[in-house]
Amino acid sequence: RQPEKHILVIFGASGDLTYRKLIPSVFDLYTQKLLPDNFGVLGLGRTDLSDDQFRDKMKEGIEKFSGTIKTKKGMEEEFLTKLFYYAFNTKEEKEYPDFKNHLESLNKKLKTGNNYIFYLATPPSMYPLVPKFLANNQLNDESNGFKRLIVEKPFGYDLESARSLNRDLQNQFREDQIYRIDHYLGKETVQNLLVTRFSNGIFEPLWNRNFIDHVEITSAEDIGVGDRGGYYEDSGALRDMVQNHLMLLASLVAMEPPALIKDESIRNEIVKVMQSLRPIPEEKVPEFVIRGQYIGSEIRGKKQKGYREEKGVNPKSRTETFVAMKFFIDNWRWAGVPFYIRTGKSLPTRVTEIVIHFRPTPHHLFHGDKDIMKQKNQLVIRIQPDEGILLKFGMKVPGAGFNVQDVNMDFHYSELNDTYLPSAYERLLLDCMLGDATLYSRADAVEAAWEFVDPILKAWKNQPCIKVHGYPAGTWGPDVSDQLIEGEQTWRYPCK
Ligand code: BG6
Repeated sequence: RQPEKHILVIFGASGDLTYRKLIPSVFDLYTQKLLPDNFGVLGLGRTDLSDDQFRDKMKEGIEKFSGTIKTKKGMEEEFLTKLFYYAFNTKEEKEYPDFKNHLESLNKKLKTGNNYIFYLATPPSMYPLVPKFLANNQLNDESNGFKRLIVEKPFGYDLESARSLNRDLQNQFREDQIYRIDHYLGKETVQNLLVTRFSNGIFEPLWNRNFIDHVEITSAEDIGVGDRGGYYEDSGALRDMVQNHLMLLASLVAMEPPALIKDESIRNEIVKVMQSLRPIPEEKVPEFVIRGQYIGSEIRGKKQKGYREEKGVNPKSRTETFVAMKFFIDNWRWAGVPFYIRTGKSLPTRVTEIVIHFRPTPHHLFHGDKDIMKQKNQLVIRIQPDEGILLKFGMKVPGAGFNVQDVNMDFHYSELNDTYLPSAYERLLLDCMLGDATLYSRADAVEAAWEFVDPILKAWKNQPCIKVHGYPAGTWGPDVSDQLIEGEQTWRYPCK
């Protein structure tokens, strides 16, 4: 199915997101013939650029970041004719009528039926303003064509600001016109979680407190904050990764089967998980949440910067670049099963994976069985890189006796020859063009996630005695995070 004709209007078009992700993804949709014939992109920004200058810059972005450019070389010239640019100060309400005229004449020229998608790739301070100015100029009015609004994270800074942002957005656009992007849901392997769980008869009967011991989710990055220090100082790992991406992954692992694979069904189940999270009271935060910050190090002769030495970072900063936490989901399926989440910058490798640790057999019959079962059967869902699924189980060591050893059954997406894995932005942009919000976050889910994270932020703010553990850049975070895990277990270290 192809989307209806429309114009994609990007606020913040001279920024990095447009250059690295949005335009290369739209190009990839184009090369796969997934865009309508009547289509255009109108980039908006304060920088004065002509259409041609904008196209030149975007061409560079396409060449560097598109997933299909290698096989579709030559298609970019034709695609670039669909890109337009209009310079204006989006903070100034009085400039909107002119912008509207410009948009409408482009709409006439391209015959796009007054269908518009407005993409807010701006700093978050603009999120409440732009929708208001659009609405004041009737650019939210669907009587003559669809009007959709895509909002990038962060959706708020804490619970209160998230609620207020949702109110501001919903005052101008209906909830079904608002598309909140969490790019993790656009990842093929994240969607595959639903398929793994709900299309295989063998997993679902075991997917509960009776057979699962604990669940572990790691999202590690091997680079520091780079030149995003200014943004990161106000954010930290909890807001940047946990409140959104990792809570979402946990919800997909934990949710009940939806009635249908359709937006409200799936989104209802996600919200139910978020609403079942056991709150962590402020005074218990140190028991359940560990925060860390990378410090300068030299590993195997390689020097790595500490967070406080990064550009835009306060030399006395207490912002966390690592979080490990334990929490529970108080519902029928998961009662008593700990969930562990860990994320950090400047760790030894880049990997995102979910590990389902199954309970051991009730009795150990075989030699070696006990040691292996300390590890227990594990299902490792590798979100990225090396996307795939790994099942670890015990097998007889060939020869005399009954010795058991741990073996792997391992599937890699890369083994599927000729399969193109679309990027997250590509998938999500296409869905919005099709009017399908299934993979976008709904207001209530965003608020429920903030409700859970808020006491942690408050505890860190109000109790300066809670430690920010230093960890040498390039290591797996503070050692104390191992103590979070109950019993004799530790985290799985994918490449230790
Ligand atoms: C972004 C965060 O949302 O996700 C970044 O702001 C982080 O700090 C990124 O690096 C990770 O995304 P991915 O797709 O590389 O796992």
